[in-house]
Amino acid sequence: MAMTNLPSNPVPTLSPRLASTDDVAELVRVEKQVHASPWDEAHFLAEMEKPYSRVLVMTDDETDSVIAGYVVFWLMFDEAQILNIAVDLPFRGLGLARALIRQVVSHAIKKDIRKVILDVRKSNQPAIQLYQSMKFAVAQVRKGFYSDGEDAYTMVLNLDDSAMSSEEKAF
Ligand SMILES: CC(C)(COP(=O)(O)OP(=O)(O)OC[C@H]1O[C@@H](n2cnc3c(N)ncnc32)[C@H](O)[C@@H]1OP(=O)(O)O)[C@@H](O)C(=O)NCCC(=O)NCCS
Repeated sequence: MAMTNLPSNPVPTLSPRLASTDDVAELVRVEKQVHASPWDEAHFLAEMEKPYSRVLVMTDDETDSVIAGYVVFWLMFDEAQILNIAVDLPFRGLGLARALIRQVVSHAIKKDIRKVILDVRKSNQPAIQLYQSMKFAVAQVRKGFYSDGEDAYTMVLNLDDSAMSSEEKAF
């Protein structure tokens, strides 16, 4: 899926693909820009080793080396679980996070998985709005879930039979 830009738009065209170990340095560079407790190289490499884990990056079509955003998720039993999703600062507000979640949904549907789940900080309004805009709902509040004591919302997107057909249309 290439995202076409207008001629006046400096944003390059971008496409999703699975990450390789060659991407880890760039992933860590972006991670440090966007998260207060960033994952390190070992963390990304460990995810790439797990058979049920997927690390998907959105890169520029020209060089395939600029990572504009990424999502890490598990396809396990009856759930797809998003562990990490981020978009680098110059690429925010372009619909990239939504496109990455659509990728997760598409991977889940291929495995006959009907539920996407994630945890988000109660204070992370941009992310909560993103998930709500894609029909995720709060399923649970996890008190003191994060190491600094902040609560998490567990949010769930159900891709049940009726929802799935509309999700597939929407995605
Ligand atoms: C949250 C994040 C992934 C959004 O990435 P993005 O590519 O800019 O998001 P999109 O352009 O796809 O936005 C989709 C929707 O998300 C919501 N959204 C995104 N950024 C928002 C903001 N700053 N304020 C409010 N809502 C926002 C909106 O509903 C938006 O839809 P709209 O553009 O039609 O209004 C990005 O801000 C980020 O990387 N944050 C740091 C990492 C993080 O918090 N990850 C989530 C951990 S659970």
